[in-house]
Amino acid sequence: MTCHLLIPAAGSGKRMGADRNKLLLPLINKPILQWTLEAAIASDAIAWIGVMGQPHDYPEFQKIFNALNTTKPIRLIQGGSTRQASVFNGLKSLEGGDRVLIHDGARCLATPELFNRCDRALQTMQGFIAAVPVKDTIKIVDGQTIVDTPNRDHLWAAQTPQGFQSDLLKKAHLKAVELNWEVTDDAALFEKMGLPVQIVMGEETNLKITTQQDLAIAEFILNQRNP
Ligand code: CTP
Ligand code: MG
Repeated sequence: MTCHLLIPAAGSGKRMGADRNKLLLPLINKPILQWTLEAAIASDAIAWIGVMGQPHDYPEFQKIFNALNTTKPIRLIQGGSTRQASVFNGLKSLEGGDRVLIHDGARCLATPELFNRCDRALQTMQGFIAAVPVKDTIKIVDGQTIVDTPNRDHLWAAQTPQGFQSDLLKKAHLKAVELNWEVTDDAALFEKMGLPVQIVMGEETNLKITTQQDLAIAEFILNQRNP
């Protein structure tokens, strides 16, 4: 079995304090986005890749694509003003593919094994997210006062890839446009539709590059993998 993969990569990286898309920043010896793409290419479970970007980044993205050693189709798709809009555009540009994985370009440490595991999950699930059990105790806070401490056994930290039967995710995005639902991940749309979303074990190291500190941690992890 194989999946189509959509990579939202059309953000700005504001929290990084960078003056351009954070995915173009170097991590060790190549741009963040290239690490993400190389992991996806190394997974036999991925047959086709679509990358959503902003037009001003297209030349840089194209350079990265040219540096990749693969025969897999990789398409450049125009992103939107929110992650949700970028994914919606990606879904409209899918070339076939009954099953789709969505994976943030900013999660550049995901391994090929994780992509493989996600592909296998979609053989039986309508929708899933990669997630890990939370290690911290999480507090619900109102103002500056704790109002609840949920049982940690039921708390998972959501990551990407998130995977879905493509027709169902397209329906969920269309409904979101119709009803003005704004969410931060695709699973939330599926949940709003009353569709089941299951959990696939993610990876502790599958962090999302958001700040300069994340970049330093990512460099450390990659150097550990390939000393
Ligand atoms: N993304 C996207 N389209 C947008 C906004 C975000 O495709 N309009 C992508 C980002 O490129 C990233 C992923 O969604 O791969 C997760 O977003 P986030 O980590 O928030 O990235 P940015 O929006 O770029 O960063 P910031 O929020 O700090 O500006
Ligand atoms: Mg953002």
